[in-house]
Amino acid sequence: MTTACFDAHLAAPPTLAAEGLSLAYDRRAVVDGLSLELPTGRITSIVGANGCGKSTLLRGLGRLLKPAAGRVLLGGADISRLAPRAVARDLALLPQSPVAPEGITVADLVGRGRSPHQGLFRRWTAEDERVVAEALHATDTADLAVRRVDELSGGQRQRVWIAMVLAQQPRVLLLDEPTTYLDLAHQVEVLELLARLNAERGTTIVMVLHELNLAARYSDHMVVMGGGRVLRAGVPADVLTEAAVEEAFGLAAVVVSDPVTGGPLVVPR
Ligand SMILES: Nc1ncnc2c1ncn2[C@@H]1O[C@H](COP(=O)(O)OP(=O)(O)OP(=O)(O)O)[C@@H](O)[C@H]1O
Ligand SMILES: [Mg+2]
Repeated sequence: MTTACFDAHLAAPPTLAAEGLSLAYDRRAVVDGLSLELPTGRITSIVGANGCGKSTLLRGLGRLLKPAAGRVLLGGADISRLAPRAVARDLALLPQSPVAPEGITVADLVGRGRSPHQGLFRRWTAEDERVVAEALHATDTADLAVRRVDELSGGQRQRVWIAMVLAQQPRVLLLDEPTTYLDLAHQVEVLELLARLNAERGTTIVMVLHELNLAARYSDHMVVMGGGRVLRAGVPADVLTEAAVEEAFGLAAVVVSDPVTGGPLVVPR
């Protein structure tokens, strides 16, 4: 992704936390009495085995799922009591498998990211135009602007969705596996882009990742989940241990020092 300069000097993001949060589908509890504070203005990765409840937790944090018990606090207020548009101006969620309206073009999809900022009559402004252009540029998708989303490759589509959430200019950004479908170079580019967004705008970033080593490298804070609960949370070096990998994934691994960053590097035995 090309260098982009995100608007700096914005107000600090609102705090985000879960308090005794339980989430269920048809009464089947998936997340169970979970309490968690997501560090404001930092990058957090959520890792854990398939089916352990990561996406469910993210959807709960993003107000897409109503808690069976407990609550999500955004800026200290119960998120379920806040106006949806007000929440959308502060917080964006990129789901694991987003679905685009049929036949929509890249430019139109990314433009939809502006809707929480538009007034009653949805007038398209020069500012909307500028922000969309910046989002396309930052994700290296400007060349795709006139293409239909449904005819893109998996990796191109993933970058277009990231452009859409960037166009929303959220202060809190939740992403569910933003690097799936991406080749290693594009994975690193997306993570670099998120790191830059965090550094330049102070955006709070919470992402679900399966790449443990990239997660450790790009995160200030890591949450290891298992069975709908938080097994461990803290700085990657403290959290990503051999015992944690065994507990969360049932995988025997050695954790060595990453030759590039000095952080933890998980190597399966
Ligand atoms: N819409 C749904 N209706 C019913 N059950 C669901 C639904 N979505 C998820 N589940 C179930 O909830 C549990 C947790 O799913 P979730 O998608 O949160 O896992 P995950 O940790 O994100 O897994 P993955 O790494 O595979 O994405 C699973 O057992 C799943 O089958
Ligand atoms: Mg998931």
